[in-house]
Amino acid sequence: MAKLIFHKKEEAQKEIIDRIQNLVDSDKPKDLVLNETARLLKENFPKYNWVGFYLMEGNELALGPYLGKPTPHTRIKLDSGICGAAVREEQTIIVPDVKYDPRYLACSLETKSEIVVPIRKGEKVVGEIDIDSDELNAFDEQDKSFLETVSEILSDCF
Ligand code: SME
Repeated sequence: MAKLIFHKKEEAQKEIIDRIQNLVDSDKPKDLVLNETARLLKENFPKYNWVGFYLMEGNELALGPYLGKPTPHTRIKLDSGICGAAVREEQTIIVPDVKYDPRYLACSLETKSEIVVPIRKGEKVVGEIDIDSDELNAFDEQDKSFLETVSEILSDCF
């Protein structure tokens, strides 16, 4: 898909939300929807350098569709990483500087900050959106609320 041109972050977020809603409504297979969502996020938000999904499998998180450098963390136990913490706490976690967070599991040396947003189905966390940035402090409250909306929309394909 061609890169879209936006003048404001909110404008981009609104358009991307509509596109993701359309993808979910199209009843395409979940992996395809997640893959296309990762592409829309990575291509339209320059600070989003690694965009992927972890999906609950039993008591672990399994790496799902992603775009960015390959990660060694294909399975993450709930007692480790920022990813595990977001499932345990059932809430979004923003890490402004991964260097100072002892929970952080490194994926790439370039990563400086991270956001992990749980995806819920009813009461249960079924997966999460994980985004890494090569910039320090890349994620603010606006990213958080945008990605929480994306997560709510994606919940329908689980
Ligand atoms: N940084 C994550 C691990 C996944 S990679 O970023 C792709 C964590 O600390 O859980």
